[in-house]
Amino acid sequence: MTPGIADGKPAPAHSAGCFIRCEGVGYTYRSGARALRDINLEIAEGEFAAVVGHNGSGKSTLAMLLSGLEKPGAGIVTLGGMNTADTSKSRELRKLCGIVFQNPENQLVFEKVADDLAFGLKNLGFGGEEIEKRIAEVSRILGIEEFTDSFELSMGQKQRVAIAGALAMNPRGMIFDEPTAMLDPRGKRDIQRIIADLHRRGLTVVYVTNVIDEVLFADRIILLNQGRIGGEFRREELPSRLDELRALGLEAPVILDAADRLRARGLAVALKDFSLEGLIEGIAAAAGLPGTGGGAES
Ligand SMILES: Nc1ncnc2c1ncn2[C@@H]1O[C@H](COP(=O)(O)OP(=O)(O)OP(=O)(O)O)[C@@H](O)[C@H]1O
Ligand SMILES: [Mg+2]
Repeated sequence: MTPGIADGKPAPAHSAGCFIRCEGVGYTYRSGARALRDINLEIAEGEFAAVVGHNGSGKSTLAMLLSGLEKPGAGIVTLGGMNTADTSKSRELRKLCGIVFQNPENQLVFEKVADDLAFGLKNLGFGGEEIEKRIAEVSRILGIEEFTDSFELSMGQKQRVAIAGALAMNPRGMIFDEPTAMLDPRGKRDIQRIIADLHRRGLTVVYVTNVIDEVLFADRIILLNQGRIGGEFRREELPSRLDELRALGLEAPVILDAADRLRARGLAVALKDFSLEGLIEGIAAAAGLPGTGGGAES
């Protein structure tokens, strides 16, 4: 078995290899809704990519295609080098990449958490001992060892169980489709922290969101606009490319927007990082407040 997160072995070193590739991908629903057109995209092994776009821009459709759960209507999606349309590879593809949706209640089938976590593994033919080992490992990572009955859990706790269930398959990558949309602020922070931690452990992450501030967690931001790629840039490029977001009718992340607007009014705010603390420090230094190295004493 490939070493991975669920078996407790160290993650393989990140390679520059390609994990998911879309070539000329299109998708049209039976209703005639053309959800995606001409998508060319690569997700690298070990990458943390965010996909952001308006309602109806095709994010969920793309998430399904990237996970291999749905086949493209046009073009080719390869996952770990395998064509997702190749039905002889279905089992391998399912093990390779997991998907988590916004509503955890649609993903939890059983009343007992342990039954839910074991379900996918049983379907893939794993034996009892391996199932127990993996459940113990993912339960530890997600902090859900004490959870027994799904119906007693909060939405945030249910989402942790859903993530654990997908992680138990020991995937190399996971697609998250608005995983925090139904959670309160604390639940959102928990899930964001967990996903960042899984990425640090070596998981390839595609994080779909319509909350622009959430893209700040990712290495790379992919914009979807009316079923097409509307732009693509690395996290560090964001401050200089806010106008591209605005041109698509998306807002800029609030921290970057604030710094940008202060600069436009003449305050040269330099952001140390993209956090609220980073913004406050940047403003304090630009305003020359004491203790910021901004030169208030002189
Ligand atoms: N099951 C479906 N049947 C028919 N059309 C659909 C279906 N699912 C999505 N669509 C259409 O495909 C397009 C893209 O939808 P998709 O759900 O992928 O967008 P999205 O960006 O995830 O939107 P949201 O932000 O609302 O989640 C939309 O025009 C939508 O109406
Ligand atoms: Mg969606």
